[in-house]
Amino acid sequence: MNKCEVIAIANQKGGVGKTTTTVNLGYSLAEEGKRVLLVDCDPQANLTMSFGVDYPDELPITLYNLIGTVIEDKDLPPKGEYILTFNSLDILPSSIELAAAELSLVNAMSREATLKAILDPLRSYYDFILIDCMPSLGMLTINALAACDRVLIPANPQYLSAKGLELLLDTISKVKRKGLNSHIELDGILITMFVERTNLNKDILAWIEENFGSLVRIYETKIPVSVKVGEAVLNSQSVQEFDPKGKVSAAYKNFAKEYIDGNS
Ligand SMILES: Nc1ncnc2c1ncn2[C@@H]1O[C@H](COP(=O)(O)OP(=O)(O)OP(=O)(O)O)[C@@H](O)[C@H]1O
Ligand SMILES: [Mg+2]
Repeated sequence: MNKCEVIAIANQKGGVGKTTTTVNLGYSLAEEGKRVLLVDCDPQANLTMSFGVDYPDELPITLYNLIGTVIEDKDLPPKGEYILTFNSLDILPSSIELAAAELSLVNAMSREATLKAILDPLRSYYDFILIDCMPSLGMLTINALAACDRVLIPANPQYLSAKGLELLLDTISKVKRKGLNSHIELDGILITMFVERTNLNKDILAWIEENFGSLVRIYETKIPVSVKVGEAVLNSQSVQEFDPKGKVSAAYKNFAKEYIDGNS
């Protein structure tokens, strides 16, 4: 039987590599023959735009419309009407309109379970559904945490704050405690934008291990910093398509293996 894993890629801190990780972990998993859906749960729509959709607000159906449909208790459209396909990856797009969903969700009946109602029927089509969260712990992120099986936290070691991470871990346990998602599991921290040859980063890593190692797994694989990441985005490609032999591609590929092995 097909078992789909829904993974929320979350960190309320901005610019830590959530979207880059969603795209490149997704790409690696697809390369391994997995059926993958990427969900853009951020009104900034960076994920959607990174596939070359320059004007997401011109798309006929985005996550915003689907959330509205669930809130109004209407039937969801067939998946072919809103899912975009780029080579081996399927995308559920978003647009700036999604910002308004934060507010409409607050007053909705099953306000935390709206995204779950959209994603659960899609589980049978995929091996992995990766949710690219926005940099906040608002209603959309709570919806992602309620809809997922596991949470992966990308973090830039230079800017990792103990308080910020505690807040995120607290939110995850609150989602569990409140019964919004009783089976949610914390995968761990993926270190991104890692500069290997600085003592500063080594010290920070030691600090992370010391402070969080007992609370949360820190993945062996670290994603190095590279200008290729930005260049790939400008080219509407994953780093792995844009620079297949580069160090970031290799790291995301290794990480996908470590990730699958760790969860099987
Ligand atoms: N390994 C890397 N090396 C260099 N630059 C990177 C790397 N990973 C991400 N970036 C760049 O850092 C910026 C932030 O990355 P990304 O958009 O993935 O973060 P994010 O957490 O999704 O941000 P937001 O919180 O705004 O959604 C982007 O410009 C991206 O191209
Ligand atoms: Mg992002």
